[in-house]
Amino acid sequence: MTIEGIDRAGKSTQARMLCEALGHVALLVREPGGTAVGEHVRELLKDPSVEIGAEAEALLFAAARAELVARVIRPALAEGRVVVSDRFLDSSLAYQGAARGLGLEEVRRINGWATGGLVPDLTLLLELDSAAAARRRGESDRFESEGRALQDQVLAAYERLATAEPSRWRRIAADRPEDEVHADVLGAVRAALPKLAERVGPA
Ligand code: TYD
Repeated sequence: MTIEGIDRAGKSTQARMLCEALGHVALLVREPGGTAVGEHVRELLKDPSVEIGAEAEALLFAAARAELVARVIRPALAEGRVVVSDRFLDSSLAYQGAARGLGLEEVRRINGWATGGLVPDLTLLLELDSAAAARRRGESDRFESEGRALQDQVLAAYERLATAEPSRWRRIAADRPEDEVHADVLGAVRAALPKLAERVGPA
């Protein structure tokens, strides 16, 4: 299962709280990262002194994802564990495919190859608009308008992806206290994956 949303939507906090609720069966991973290659790629992508073209950026995310799937996610699934990923291929579709303009189909294709076609059972979209995300940081006036515009495009892309595949996606309003968001996250998991629900107890 994967958690998606714009920057500062609270994905990491919710992913952690969900894994704590699920207990030992759950494995938390984050993208990019989680493997030796993934962590190096993460550093490379975050280094402001390294200029990277949009295509190379998409391929680097896909390379990190290929390693994570092959070395961590598939072995964990084979052991019967539940993997919760803080971002996954939908991040590439929204950021690289839509916001950076590479095209959803191209990005889907390279990622399909990178992951061997692995698709999450459930994807939670933490819905928070860019203005609320900026307020969270307490820097709304310093938040560059270009940065805001990018986040708006990413959110719009997520909304389209969720609408196109309603059986996989659940939308969760994220502009609320984290405990309330967590309760809805658990509710969505219970409803979508009833076998797992037994592990998190009654609502
Ligand atoms: P990160 O520090 O993980 O941000 P956050 O904690 O807010 O999720 O950095 C991830 C950044 O990389 C984030 O801005 C989204 C972007 N990203 C992509 O553009 N494509 C991808 O496929 C992934 C996984 C992340």
